[in-house]
Amino acid sequence: QPEAPVEPMPTTRPAGCPFDPPEELGRLRERRPLSRMRYPDGHLGWLVTSHTLARAVLGDRRFSSRYEHMHHPTLDVGPIPPGPLGDLTAMDQPEHTRYRSLLTGKFTVRRMRQLTDRVVEITHERLDAMERQGPPVDLVPAFAQPIPALMICELLGVPTADREFFQQRASLAESPQEQMESWNALERYIRELVPAKRANPTDDVLSDLTTSDLTDEELAGIGTFLLGAGLDTTANMLALGTFALLRNPEQFAALRDDPDLAESAVEELLRYLTIADPGVRTAMEDIELDGQVIRAGETVTISMHAGNRDPERFPDPDTLDLRRRATGHLAFGHGIHQCLGQQLARVEMTVAFPALVARFPTLRLAVPAEEIPMRENANIYGVRRLPVTWEVA
Ligand code: HEM
Repeated sequence: QPEAPVEPMPTTRPAGCPFDPPEELGRLRERRPLSRMRYPDGHLGWLVTSHTLARAVLGDRRFSSRYEHMHHPTLDVGPIPPGPLGDLTAMDQPEHTRYRSLLTGKFTVRRMRQLTDRVVEITHERLDAMERQGPPVDLVPAFAQPIPALMICELLGVPTADREFFQQRASLAESPQEQMESWNALERYIRELVPAKRANPTDDVLSDLTTSDLTDEELAGIGTFLLGAGLDTTANMLALGTFALLRNPEQFAALRDDPDLAESAVEELLRYLTIADPGVRTAMEDIELDGQVIRAGETVTISMHAGNRDPERFPDPDTLDLRRRATGHLAFGHGIHQCLGQQLARVEMTVAFPALVARFPTLRLAVPAEEIPMRENANIYGVRRLPVTWEVA
């Protein structure tokens, strides 16, 4: 007797814990980690909830990432168009390999070291500004957004004079309408930046890429994609990560008292929060997995958050423990599409979290935790605002 498909995709988080994945995902992982799922458009596909199977699907090239093959796991949007030019997450091999290898060569150790120096400067500038302003402060515009926005400027070589414009446009706008307008303005800006870099190259990833055989249009697509991939993700990790630390005061204290915890703290926060979720793939041929057959054309939704809370991989998975070795988590994905900017994201977080708790050792929420507005139903999970306060010496 086949079990009834999951319907709809579980998305409701448990009451009182905005950091945990929906409880239903945990129940499925125990019962049948590869479940049939009915998609909102009627498609009968699959849902993966264990760490092992998530890695198996994400690491298997017989699954496609192309948007036009997918069925949307939570919305009835009709046929999905192919991804925009430069969107690596929507490509399969060999197209993906061409772009990916060009880009990987630009994220060098030397460049990452250079970027680390800038993250340190930018972080301290933001902390100084917070101190001057005095409490309470909304940590999202004051800290979480500007650090990744300025780092993307570094990566793309946005001239200093344009950074104010860039930052304003890159902040998380309230309404979808405003968001769309800002995004369009940034896209136009990058489109104009490409020929400027070709004419006058500087020391940055975008200028470097102008020496490849990519066209201006492809370069603008990649620049825009890097912006989209690197901004909201890191900003939300910084804000939601701080919220998680403030809700776990003993963990906050552990990081404050031992800055050497920073690296493991970042991995654990990535695992615990898994803000970029779920992954979606489509089988391009019949594939046998976990004793079942996924037919060609069927879409598989991979809950990386459920995988990252799999007790078989991470003991006591629902506890935030900054001392844990959380390596092998799925927060940056897995396989050929694993996050290209993960070293940059790690540098930003490894600098920013310890600097924040060192500067404001008495940091706490300025409103009750239940009043923090969450980014529900967004592509990237996080908080909309994070009002914080501290004791002024
Ligand atoms: C891909 C998460 C920061 C650039 C991905 C994927 C995830 C992810 C889950 C895989 C998507 C998939 O399999 O379809 C994150 C998180 C970040 C972060 C949680 C912050 C904490 C960044 C930054 C950059 C970046 C700072 C660059 C500036 C990319 C790119 C890809 C990617 C280019 C596509 C790789 C490919 O398809 O080959 N990221 N990311 N990300 N990310 Fe990140």
